[in-house]
Amino acid sequence: MIRPRKAIERLTQYRPPQEGRGGKMRLDFNENTVGCARQVVRALRRAVNPELLTRYPEYDEGRRTLAAYFGVAPEELVLTNGTDDAIKTVCDTFVDPDDTLLVPAPTFPVYEFFHSVAGGKTLRIRYDENFRLPSKKFVGALKRQPVRWVALANPNNPTGTQIPHADLKAILLAAPDTLVLVDEAYYDFAGETVLPWIRKYPNLVVTRTFSKAFGLAALRLGCLFANGMLTESLRRGQNPFAVNSLALISACVAIQYDAQVRKYAGEVRWNRTEFSRWLEAREIPYVPSSANFVLTRVGRHAPEIARHLRAEGILVRDWSYDPHLKGYLRFTIGSVAQTRRLMAELERVKNLIESPRGARAWKNMVSHPSTGWFA
Ligand SMILES: Cc1ncc(COP(=O)(O)O)c(C=O)c1O
Repeated sequence: MIRPRKAIERLTQYRPPQEGRGGKMRLDFNENTVGCARQVVRALRRAVNPELLTRYPEYDEGRRTLAAYFGVAPEELVLTNGTDDAIKTVCDTFVDPDDTLLVPAPTFPVYEFFHSVAGGKTLRIRYDENFRLPSKKFVGALKRQPVRWVALANPNNPTGTQIPHADLKAILLAAPDTLVLVDEAYYDFAGETVLPWIRKYPNLVVTRTFSKAFGLAALRLGCLFANGMLTESLRRGQNPFAVNSLALISACVAIQYDAQVRKYAGEVRWNRTEFSRWLEAREIPYVPSSANFVLTRVGRHAPEIARHLRAEGILVRDWSYDPHLKGYLRFTIGSVAQTRRLMAELERVKNLIESPRGARAWKNMVSHPSTGWFA
């Protein structure tokens, strides 16, 4: 028998994303729920021909166009096959076996996944009970031991919370030899960025994606930004043809119609407020979010509620598999009609939702100013 590497044998089985999501109301993966700009689809139809498909992708022009859009120099941008590939490229380039990754918990699991594939160890620091990043503990951990890299989703998934800029600065300065990745996949719904900081902090890597607000998840295009020294190493460690031609053509058209993305993000923010108020009125605990989803504590019947919604054609993400998030569902926020339909369906299962009227601590969490939207 041919055995895989030890690091692979140690991995728990990867659970692939759900199949059969087409045609349903997809409130489970934080995608754009209404679709990308029509102009992107039209441009793709026009662009596809045998000659284009025969040729290996060429990147220079697309990279220049996207760099100009994001306000960076072309050498500060690495195109990747989604943020997932950006994370893998960071691991392929910088992680040796037994290196340490520092992450908050809970967070997007792919950082730890690719780090473990590379043979690294992960140090997790839990969010506090109000879902704030315990940044002092992060700084302490960075000062105590060698850490190869830190991964911070900002806003974080699944909490939707943002990290204050002062905390990010403290983390960047605590260990200048530790690479700090700030994943801004949900930037368009939050509006805060540290992208210009790549010129100030030589250990900072920022990522963005076309999978969320831009509505191009199927095409897989991510952007990784850092100073020229880091990007040169990253390009050396990267799969040379990671990004396909159609993804790059689509992104270059999508940015011309980004007014539609901003309009959609505005609609999502409005619905996020509506949904949050709806939860508050029913005393259902939730984490105030800066992203296009809301982590909500519905109680011990969470799996049953998710099953009921699924039977009605609404897909949501059950986080109960995380021992610290038992009873939590994460709802992606989309259009007005979708949000209303979600609330109507939840109303129908209200007997299954636990609303802990006695748990006043939750009320305090809801109004906490650090988490954004209600501040
Ligand atoms: C924080 C975060 N980063 C990255 C991704 C994945 O992005 P991409 O589709 O660009 O790989 C997700 C997807 O859920 C996410 O939540």
